[in-house]
Amino acid sequence: MNDIFILPKIADSRGNLSIIEEMKQIPFKIKRVYWIYDVPGGVERGGHAYRQNEEFIVALSGSFDVCLDNGKEKKVISLNRSYMGVYIPKGIWRVMNNFSTNSLALIVSSIDYDEKDYIMDYEEFLQYSTTSDRF
Ligand code: TYD
Repeated sequence: MNDIFILPKIADSRGNLSIIEEMKQIPFKIKRVYWIYDVPGGVERGGHAYRQNEEFIVALSGSFDVCLDNGKEKKVISLNRSYMGVYIPKGIWRVMNNFSTNSLALIVSSIDYDEKDYIMDYEEFLQYSTTSDRF
């Protein structure tokens, strides 16, 4: 769990092509896609967990780190290829940092945006995570 997923890569002299399909390369149905870009140097994104939302994150361009925490263990996954992604189950505290210049993060989500799905407080997350064992 939470290891890098290697996506299909159709290599071609005209350029490469990679694919994400719901319930195939990723284990959920896609409800929403958003992307993060123009991130200033040294900035951190995320710093929260979701109660229900699942995510799949790809560094479409450049590189950044995805730091995962299940309340017991922490893991840092560096993304730096357009055909690699990380799956984040619900109930994982996640932070994204070390964005390179011009990096582009694609995030595929399993539910609509819902402010109430976020756990923004780390202590609350730790209490919540005692009921789950996600890594
Ligand atoms: P947030 O999820 O906190 O971004 P990150 O985890 O990358 O730091 O979202 C930042 C802001 O954007 C916040 O005000 C909520 C808003 N937002 C939406 O309105 N819709 C969305 O689908 C997402 C992901 C965020």
